[in-house]
Amino acid sequence: MKSLLSCVIVTASLTLAGSAFAAELPAAAKAKCGACHALDKKLVGPAYKDISAKYKGDKDAVSKMIANITKGGAFGWKLSNMPPKGMGATEAEIKTIAEYIAGLAQ
Ligand code: HEC
Repeated sequence: MKSLLSCVIVTASLTLAGSAFAAELPAAAKAKCGACHALDKKLVGPAYKDISAKYKGDKDAVSKMIANITKGGAFGWKLSNMPPKGMGATEAEIKTIAEYIAGLAQ
């Protein structure tokens, strides 16, 4: 019993330690956005970390990003136009990625 308990504690603390670092990029972000976006360097589009910084402290960050990703276009980065939904991302994928990007700034 005691060893089972410590096993649970170890697992829990590993999970916590993991979340202190930037979570792994969602798979859909690699597949459907990766041609133009990377975590910390500018490609065709801005780095996720820079986007996150733009929205830091904005409580509507996730909904604004979802709207922008869905409609595509230009958002003031002066790079080029983003295609609507990237490369065919679903609504659920867009939401996951927007939450991920917003979470980077914390
Ligand atoms: C063909 C290239 C391309 C693809 C694919 C692409 N983007 Fe973009 N994205 C851009 C460009 C270019 C910009 C910057 C537009 C500008 O100059 O304002 C941008 C900007 C953004 C922004 C910033 C929005 C803001 O409010 O400032 C977010 C968030 C974003 N992209 C998310 C995504 C996600 C998520 C995907 C995948 C579902 C994706 N992008 C796929 C090119 C792309």
